[in-house]
Amino acid sequence: MKLPRRFFKPLALGAPSPLRELPVRLERMIHFVPPHLEKMRAKAPSIAREVDVVLGNLEDAIPGDRKVEARQGFIAMARAADYGSTGLWIRMNALDSPWALDDLVEIVGAVGEKLDVVMVPKVEGLWDIHYVDQLLAQLEAKAGLSRPILVHAILETAEGVKNVDDIASASPRMHGMSLGPADLAASRGMKTTRVGGGHPDYKVLSDPDGDAPRAAAQQDLWHYTVARMVDACLANGIKPFYGPFGDFSDPAACEAQFRNAFLMGCVGAWSLHPTQIAIAKRVFSPDPAEVAFARRILEAMPDGTGAAMIDGKMQDDATWKQARVIADLADLVAAKDGG
Ligand code: GLV
Ligand code: MG
Repeated sequence: MKLPRRFFKPLALGAPSPLRELPVRLERMIHFVPPHLEKMRAKAPSIAREVDVVLGNLEDAIPGDRKVEARQGFIAMARAADYGSTGLWIRMNALDSPWALDDLVEIVGAVGEKLDVVMVPKVEGLWDIHYVDQLLAQLEAKAGLSRPILVHAILETAEGVKNVDDIASASPRMHGMSLGPADLAASRGMKTTRVGGGHPDYKVLSDPDGDAPRAAAQQDLWHYTVARMVDACLANGIKPFYGPFGDFSDPAACEAQFRNAFLMGCVGAWSLHPTQIAIAKRVFSPDPAEVAFARRILEAMPDGTGAAMIDGKMQDDATWKQARVIADLADLVAAKDGG
């Protein structure tokens, strides 16, 4: 572990200083765009008005023989518009692939000043973050960038989950983390073929009661991992996200998965299909009744200490902090969506 003073030193001569606090940004959905498809990337500037983050996907789902086109397509897409307050991210290729180095070298060199966050797949431990951290610093210095590009890890290997605390605290460049349930299932040897969501066989049965049919309740396969990810992220002041939900024909299950993640502390999820944008907005924007109640708590306890009773419910410093989170989120949502 580096000493704090060295932890916050730029990793290359002339690179911008690392941030001490994350910028306050609304990131309810990270919308995936396949930049090798001209028709899809042409829509990116208009989609950017609807979503909080536009991400050019260079990794899985992009065919191996179109990786270079995807990278060049992202550069064209970044140059084609001003994305304003909407985040512009890439998901780079994995660090053990032949494309990873050029993804960073070419994209930061060409459009680094527009790039907010690099999502790094299949992060196994802090060594992966250190590699990207140092390389980004060199590239930022070379390109003369004035603000640091942040790093977002995908938690999608058994080793990554084992090392999740180290990953979250590896660098001041860390923005957050997303659960990658598809690769994680493969890495763990889970007996599923899905991208996120539950499984009908992962359930508990009620006790037997004579011949009466026994009720069964499906359980959440991702509860343990999301909880570990949320604790690791929040302990280090970075942001946890649920990742992809692959069954586009089941919006109700997508909403349930997103909502579980939201209630457990996640701030957003990926949208892989336009229908998932509205789901993420619904889930990750706070409920107006909760916002109104949160504002009453803040008013009743102006300095955030002591205790107050509102509608028979006891409030104290801890509920004041929860209310602050909800009210701040509501302010960001109002600024983006209006109203
Ligand atoms: C996402 O990348 C996943 O593997 O689920
Ligand atoms: Mg993956």
